[in-house]
Amino acid sequence: MTAIGLGKIILLGEHAVVYGFPALAAALDRGVAIAAVPTPAGGSLRIDIPAWNLKVTATDDHPVARSLLAIVDSLGLGRPTVSLVGDAQIPPGAGLGSSAALAVAVSRALLTHAKRKLDAREITAAASASEALMHGKPSGVDVALAIAGGIGVFRKTTGLRSFASPTLRVLVGPSGAPRTTSAMVERVAEATASSADDPRLRALGGLTDTGTTALLAKDLVGLGAAMNRAHDLLSELGVSTEQLDSLCEAARVSGAYGAKLTGAGGGGAVIAIAPREREQAVLTEWKNVGVTGFVATVGGGAGTAA
Ligand code: PMV
Repeated sequence: MTAIGLGKIILLGEHAVVYGFPALAAALDRGVAIAAVPTPAGGSLRIDIPAWNLKVTATDDHPVARSLLAIVDSLGLGRPTVSLVGDAQIPPGAGLGSSAALAVAVSRALLTHAKRKLDAREITAAASASEALMHGKPSGVDVALAIAGGIGVFRKTTGLRSFASPTLRVLVGPSGAPRTTSAMVERVAEATASSADDPRLRALGGLTDTGTTALLAKDLVGLGAAMNRAHDLLSELGVSTEQLDSLCEAARVSGAYGAKLTGAGGGGAVIAIAPREREQAVLTEWKNVGVTGFVATVGGGAGTAA
């Protein structure tokens, strides 16, 4: 049996969410799938994800090995002789929640293999322990979406509030540039003196409210404007790059309502929303500069936005 953890995009509110402000985030229709099979006699816990060129044994000196141990410890599974074999439809390290998707899929696969019930709180705790090793002090938005799917507003204090929204088509452009979330979170801490009173963080939090209202009203022009403004603020905070700026600009010039970096920035991915007939133009512009984008359908349960 295969266990799934979904990838995610943050439509609005990344970085501000670390300081208690709300973020609008949605699960992607793709992620990481893991099957647990018994390891041949005497072998230890291991993971093999060919799509990421990842092959690690829990005893290795490797971040994913430490993450596996954090998960089994949190779940109280000892040292199971299990091989985790996986497939991934999202790139790693691109701001699309790959590490949380992996941790959730691994947790679910291990629990299923141990014939334990899938308890959301246990899975959240295990995946969060893994994320803490990978990212320092994550807000928890990635884990919440990887488990719950759908779309919602996430706050550190209240967790994910899911809701029905119009279905939204989002263009996702993984830049291919590597970065670490913790370094970007640190950069924002320096830029804001770690203060939730910083006006740019406040403004980012406010844009989550504006953008959510626009989405629910199927006002894609309004949502796009909020995304553009959010990108500028994130850029002021020092987490954009020339490449991310130009991918966003290319999307806007091709007719997108709005575009922004998504996730921690410093590399990773951009997202854009565009009228249906302009989507191909955006993807072609990105392709011309070496970025293979894709269309993700997010949200749902309340009609279609445009
Ligand atoms: O790039 P990602 O997928 O690791 O997302 C990071 C989102 C931040 O708001 C920057 C950090 C967090 O923990 O929420």
